[in-house]
Amino acid sequence: MKKVGILTSGGDCQSLNATMRGVGKALYHLMEDVEIIGFHKGYYGLMYEDYHVMSEKEFSGILIEGGTILGTSRQPFKKMREPDENGMDKVEAMKRTYKKLGLDCLVVLGGNGSQKTANLLREEGLHVIGLPKTIDNDLWGTDMTFGFQSAVNIATNAIDCIHTTAASHGRVFIVEVMGHKVGWLTLHAGIAGGADIILIPEIPYDIEKVAEALKKREQAGKQFSIIAVAEGAISKEDAMLTKKERKKKKEKQEKYPSIAYEIGAKIQDLTGQEVRVTVPGHMQRGGSPCPYDRVLSTRLGAMAAKLILKEEYGYLVGVKNNETVKIPLEEVAGKLKMVSPDASIIKEAKLIGINFGE
Ligand code: F6P
Repeated sequence: MKKVGILTSGGDCQSLNATMRGVGKALYHLMEDVEIIGFHKGYYGLMYEDYHVMSEKEFSGILIEGGTILGTSRQPFKKMREPDENGMDKVEAMKRTYKKLGLDCLVVLGGNGSQKTANLLREEGLHVIGLPKTIDNDLWGTDMTFGFQSAVNIATNAIDCIHTTAASHGRVFIVEVMGHKVGWLTLHAGIAGGADIILIPEIPYDIEKVAEALKKREQAGKQFSIIAVAEGAISKEDAMLTKKERKKKKEKQEKYPSIAYEIGAKIQDLTGQEVRVTVPGHMQRGGSPCPYDRVLSTRLGAMAAKLILKEEYGYLVGVKNNETVKIPLEEVAGKLKMVSPDASIIKEAKLIGINFGE
């Protein structure tokens, strides 16, 4: 009998259940005898033996359900080697649970930090398979992560809604989009939502240039402007500072709730135009997965089950050129997939007049 552990780790997203369904259905389809153990709240469940044996039925009816039926939590990778508040060695505890349950493999649905921990467990001798979860699409080694396209739909919808009100009032609207340190989500939602200016971390912005672009639009008779700002967007001058210097500068500066508010205040000063800020926030991770994600999750989950059947462990299952692929976890761990400022998508966006604040 094969015993497979599964957990969902880090921030949730729309297609976690759909992916678990893919894994579960394929495992039951491929194997005569299989037991799937679901750990609760991510690595927490593996550390503290919080789990249940999942029935085949649990994998049915969850394709369109957002969130995660197993729950999730953030267990930062950088703290994995630190003991918990009771002095417990977390890595040893996870290994203990794995061995006690006699697992053949652990399937980790998670983003960057979670895959780093998956790789750590692999180095410690456990059999691990990773599945690329995140609305940020920043996992190295895969063209696409599940959750991303669903979040693009929501962020785009937010910009669409802003369009109608912006047109009525003649204001500058800033929509702040999630994405952590990368600009994939903002770039895609910005283009899909028809934003006039898109600011992403990979292309540090010059606030004077942003103001200039807004003034030009006003002079050309444009009634309103929409700016899609990534939560991780950074100015040209801040990008030249070290992390430490940036932190110091921030402590001295006026405090804003987030980057969109800071940009908004500066734009108002520089242009005199009326500015409003919208932050859709965690909405972007909620609700049902879109059809694209349901298909991707099903394919990734099925591929993970195939690897387990073949006893090929230590991989992240991803997608490249629309084909599912396996990428060694050691190659994935610790690398960030960022938007290249030279990518054709950026060039094409510029061709239609989208401004990146350069
Ligand atoms: O990684 C997904 C993500 O939603 C990021 O886009 C965002 O920066 C972060 O998680 C928010 O984290 P939390 O849910 O812990 O506030």
